[in-house]
Amino acid sequence: SAVGTSHPHESAVGHVTGQAHYIDDMPRMAGELIVDFVGSSFAHAEILSVDVSAAAKIPGVCVFTYKDIGGVNLFGPIIQDEVFLAETHVHFIGEPIVVVAAATHERIAQAKQAVKIELRELPAILSIDAAIEKKKFLTTPIKMEQGDVDAALEKSSHRLDGTFIIGGQEQFYLESQAAFAVPGEGNDLTVYSSTQNTTEVQKVVAEVLGLKHSEVVCICKRMGGGFGGKETQAVMPALMAAIVAQKTKRPARCQFSKDLDMMVTGKRHPYKAIYDVGFSSDGRVTALKIDYFSDGGCTADLSTSILSRTLFHTDNCYDIPNLRATGTICKTNLPSNTAFRGFGGPQGVAAIENILENVATKLGLDAYEVRRRNLYQGETGVTHYGQSVKNNVLPELFAQLYESSDYAERRKAVVKKNAAALAPNPLPASPMSPLRPDGHLPPHAGGGWEGGQHGKLKGLAMTGVKFGISFTTKFLNQGNALVNVYTDGTVQVSTGGTEMGQGLYTKIQQIVADELGVRFEDVKVMPTSSEKSNNTAPTAASAGTDLNGNAAAVACRKIRGRLTEYVARLWGVAPEVVEFREGHVFVSPLPTSPRMRGEGGQTMPFAELTQRAWRERISMGERGFYATPGLDFDYATGKGSPFYYFTNGACVAEVTIDRFTGALTIDRLDILMDIGKSINPGIDRGQLIGGLVQGIGWVTAEELKYSEKGALLSHSPTTYKIPSIQDIPDDLRLEFFDNKLHNFNIRSSKAVAEPPLMLGLAVFCAVKNALSYLSPREAADLKLPATNEEILMCMEKITH
Ligand code: MTE
Ligand code: MOS
Repeated sequence: SAVGTSHPHESAVGHVTGQAHYIDDMPRMAGELIVDFVGSSFAHAEILSVDVSAAAKIPGVCVFTYKDIGGVNLFGPIIQDEVFLAETHVHFIGEPIVVVAAATHERIAQAKQAVKIELRELPAILSIDAAIEKKKFLTTPIKMEQGDVDAALEKSSHRLDGTFIIGGQEQFYLESQAAFAVPGEGNDLTVYSSTQNTTEVQKVVAEVLGLKHSEVVCICKRMGGGFGGKETQAVMPALMAAIVAQKTKRPARCQFSKDLDMMVTGKRHPYKAIYDVGFSSDGRVTALKIDYFSDGGCTADLSTSILSRTLFHTDNCYDIPNLRATGTICKTNLPSNTAFRGFGGPQGVAAIENILENVATKLGLDAYEVRRRNLYQGETGVTHYGQSVKNNVLPELFAQLYESSDYAERRKAVVKKNAAALAPNPLPASPMSPLRPDGHLPPHAGGGWEGGQHGKLKGLAMTGVKFGISFTTKFLNQGNALVNVYTDGTVQVSTGGTEMGQGLYTKIQQIVADELGVRFEDVKVMPTSSEKSNNTAPTAASAGTDLNGNAAAVACRKIRGRLTEYVARLWGVAPEVVEFREGHVFVSPLPTSPRMRGEGGQTMPFAELTQRAWRERISMGERGFYATPGLDFDYATGKGSPFYYFTNGACVAEVTIDRFTGALTIDRLDILMDIGKSINPGIDRGQLIGGLVQGIGWVTAEELKYSEKGALLSHSPTTYKIPSIQDIPDDLRLEFFDNKLHNFNIRSSKAVAEPPLMLGLAVFCAVKNALSYLSPREAADLKLPATNEEILMCMEKITH
């Protein structure tokens, strides 16, 4: 069968040879225009005047402002609070005011120079703290709660409180935001977009430009990465290209540069979490009160959903009987923050994993023990939002990784090495003492381990993840697909799911091949198009394969049903014995009942069957629709079951930090993931390692630095450091957990994409663990990301 096999990613060869097409690779069209824009130079300002007359006079240049918008200059995925082109005020640096188009880059540069914009600068809010102080919030706070938190805190034998700072993160997809709009007859417009959400682009372009949804088609062949950043924010370049195509009747292409993209688009939300935790002497958490403040940026975008996912993940793998989490979105004068792999989950998981690490340090216990004692047990667990933790494998999964990673032995080694590293200096004299007569250590005379390692500290930590699968907005949990079988026996499938590198198309291809019993090579996944799949959800929440794979399977089964009936008639056999396999239709010699048994031996190539079926006027095209069953969550009460199931995993990280420079090295990573039965183990391996490394980047390296005026300073690969191949340890061990309890969802698989990102936190916790050897019983106040500078400053605070 195709499912379960590691077929290479459908565009793997295209990716490495450069043959795969992205928006900017599509062939130029006659009369095509380049699209760019002029945006705000202040983080917050009133627009006094916009003069485009000089720019408009340049031959071949066209300019558009909000006055040219034919529909409604207002949109937003949840709350309609965003404008396409600014009217009276601007709310972040780079906010678009004027769209310019021309045939050449020279003309565009001239035109941008010629646009005259007069702004009056207004006070800007550029941080969570400033927003809290000025009470600038996007919505009213949200809350999830169970038990009696205040009473339990009062009663607890130990307590810890603190503030945890969590940084944002740039999605850093390799293909920056892009769109290409091609006008058709009348009002018709086709928008090729690098988007995770063809429906959103179709809808927003139509509504802002004053068109019917039916007049706009949005197509996405693939993205050069999305990572959440193209779930809503692909609309900006699409709108810019579309308005130019609409007004000029010429094809128009808008391709953001990397720097521009980083400066003006939203990122993972930075958070501030203020907590108070109560626990027993053996490390059992009895009560947790936590208040999150996220930096939403200047508009709502997806911030409310993202914040609720933070609250949903505040328990992570741990059963906390009394828990109250609240969340508030700060409104700042920065680009609106948006989805990024994990969608708010990572901040919740970071908060609780950091707290457990602190609890362990405080009690002088191994943090693994603390985590183990707090895990959801068996089938009895119920989350703070009221969902029971069914098919729970967390205790087994943690235990298995503890064994397979050799945690206990490695802990002993870490303790020993750190003790030696921290041994008083100079070393006790011995006949073999390396001390020089002047009492100084010669270079490379270490404190006992691996010579020269006196200045290094080791850390070891295991963290876990239990990630809820489903959109927490119930209606988004739907998918549709179109399957067309042709008379040569080959198949086209289109779904609402988009391909961003995660391998969705390959998995759909595998599922369809198996459902129709045709060869993998005979199935082709077509570009995602709003013409073939309408009213789709974004490809997000890791649910792409669940929703679209199921929809495609539904369509295939309908076609196969009709073909089965036809074959049964043709051969005079019962439909039950007709089988589709390896590009053929067979009569299977079932021994059950004589009536069911075929003559035996009948077989026909699928391609012959499709020819015959066509002549018999049997439909070989079908639509499939799927809606995830059993979801029910009530936001008013904060209770219910928002998730279809959980994807689980755990990771052990061993790190070394340099006491003199703060430099961090990851020595080894062991990962154990429960993703059910993998549809494509090769692709899933890629997703797991990719997600983990992206998570490690977030927790150790990636830092968003802004000027005092709110301009992003780290807006290019030279100033913003994402992990590279050298940052990944040679010793990386990945295993799939054999989950026997999970026997539902498409081919008994589980969603893969986002959960591994949160395992990057094992590295953050390992750093904290290393620091704990410097200050036993006193948890280090380490901010996330733990950059080398942050580690160094943290050590300074501990030792001074
Ligand atoms: N993998 C690659 N290579 N590129 C991406 O942009 N996006 C991630 C993840 N893996 C992404 C990726 C995010 S944020 C999500 S939600 C899922 O893929 C979406 O795809 P899926 O639902 O089909 O897994
Ligand atoms: Mo992913 S953040 O759900 O696009």
